[in-house]
Amino acid sequence: ANNSASSGSAFSFVEVEAGVDETHHVADGYDADVLLRWGDGLFPDSPAFDPKNQSAEAQRRQFGYNNDYVGFIPLDGSSEHGLLVVNHEYTNEHLMFPGIVSVAEGKLKVAPADLSRVDIEMAAHGGTIVEIRKVDGKWQPVREGKLNRRITSTTPMQLSGPVAGHDRVKTKDDLTGKQVLGTLNNCAGGVTPWGTYVMAEENFHGYFLGQLPEGHPEAANYKRYGVPEGTYEWGNFYDRFDLSKESNEPNRFGWIVEVDVNDPNSVPKKRTALGRFKHEGAESIVARDGRVVFYLGDDERFDYVYKFVTSGTFNPNDRAANMDLLDSGTLYVAKFEADGTLNWLPVVFGEGPLTAANGFNSQADVLIETRRAADLLGATKMDRPEDIQPNGVNGKVYVMLTNNTKRKDEQTDAANPRAKNAFGHIIEIAETDGDFAATKGKWEVLLKCGDPSVAAVGASFSTDTTRNGWFGMPDNCAVDSAGRLWVATDGNNPKDTGRTDGLWAVDVDGEARATSKLFFRVPVGAEMCGPLFTPDDRTAFVAVQHPGDGGTDWAPFGRPSYYEDLSTRWPDFKNDMPVRPAVVVITKKDGGKIGV
Ligand code: FEO
Ligand code: CA
Ligand code: CA
Ligand code: CA
Repeated sequence: ANNSASSGSAFSFVEVEAGVDETHHVADGYDADVLLRWGDGLFPDSPAFDPKNQSAEAQRRQFGYNNDYVGFIPLDGSSEHGLLVVNHEYTNEHLMFPGIVSVAEGKLKVAPADLSRVDIEMAAHGGTIVEIRKVDGKWQPVREGKLNRRITSTTPMQLSGPVAGHDRVKTKDDLTGKQVLGTLNNCAGGVTPWGTYVMAEENFHGYFLGQLPEGHPEAANYKRYGVPEGTYEWGNFYDRFDLSKESNEPNRFGWIVEVDVNDPNSVPKKRTALGRFKHEGAESIVARDGRVVFYLGDDERFDYVYKFVTSGTFNPNDRAANMDLLDSGTLYVAKFEADGTLNWLPVVFGEGPLTAANGFNSQADVLIETRRAADLLGATKMDRPEDIQPNGVNGKVYVMLTNNTKRKDEQTDAANPRAKNAFGHIIEIAETDGDFAATKGKWEVLLKCGDPSVAAVGASFSTDTTRNGWFGMPDNCAVDSAGRLWVATDGNNPKDTGRTDGLWAVDVDGEARATSKLFFRVPVGAEMCGPLFTPDDRTAFVAVQHPGDGGTDWAPFGRPSYYEDLSTRWPDFKNDMPVRPAVVVITKKDGGKIGV
């Protein structure tokens, strides 16, 4: 009873029916078990989750909020025992804290924060490193794991690379310009070939409030990044998040952070050579000559696709020799030409317009204002670049472009062909001669997303794609060890479409190219993050983010608090428990490979 073999698909599973309800669904023949929920203990001394009596101290010993990137670092080469690394991107106060929400004019209103709440929020951000193991066919966290660690918005970190020590990153609390507290809004990420965990700082602008002093030299820089946005109230309690009190702190966020997971006391490093922007992720691959290539998206409408090529080469026999590879290399930004050529333009001080005439006095200046440098280079303005995944099996690279409803007709181009692009698209890159370090390549649109039954949408799924199989808003993605593409989505709104976000299997090769099938879907209000496969393809991890959320336009999918009538109580379904973001682990009931 598989419904795909006839079309030449690389996938054989019976797809899930699209829809919306209070829980998650996976294809028949698979188990999808909750592995780690917000608040779950990560250490022998972790307090039990008590949502009505939360504290920052407890949260620092528990799994954080809004799991996004999920990575797996095998221990002793095993696909059944390893470290799970998980980003905690942001917090949803209205779903986390009891008694702080009211409704005015149909909109949800959240009571002003106090210090205790801010400290919990800061502790719920960051990342988790936790040992996990498969026991009798079921995965479980190992609380006694010696490498278990929580990283938060206050964990001491080091700025490294060209920007470290520059005047523009010195603050009242850090006269060296090298020591930062914490990481913010870590969206997707990556695991390097040498087994470190990289966290991508995305929407850091939301954490700053206040105004710069009149005529401050960083004003144009901050404007380009939307700083301050003031979503969070942390600046009312911590001066470093208030621009009127500390003007340089925003230059210390928007970086790629590298964590050595082999030492739970290691100081995470902000690798400034990879540029400063709203980093979505940092998936990497070793090029033919041993240099390592990181693909980087800047998730904002009309921003750019980048890649970073290390100067040094990867040494598979000496982990320590790789530990500072991310401090030197070349950052490139993509120009997608109309004829299908891809040009990678070096974002390098002194080259082209990146000179003192344009206000750049060093590579540090170029990196702090990566976006302005890319503007000057004439890179292609994209429809919100999200996760970008190199595929070592077929040699291609897949770029998720989630949407851009602000693109006007006159702003369309070959690589962003739809005005008011509500559903996004996926671009496939083929680097010259299959060399990921190449400075030129070819590109084509793999898939224009959206409902193919609505002609005006202009979607390009294959005709074998069913009503369950189409999706919009590609966001995170993964390539399994067979080279098959899996796409997770953010924004399929049940109010519009009667369906939720989920994980889709997308054929990229042969006659089934652009055929998509629904494998897993999330409970109401959630978005789908993760996804990640163990090296043996027998386990997939997916991250269910913000279940039960309806945003500020909350009705009818979010409710004022979890003591009233939430639309879902996923994953516990208990009246005294809130919704809880959680990582779900998927295995095949017969123990076989996923999707085969
Ligand atoms: Fe955090 Fe670009 O999504
Ligand atoms: Ca994302
Ligand atoms: Ca990915
Ligand atoms: Ca997302």
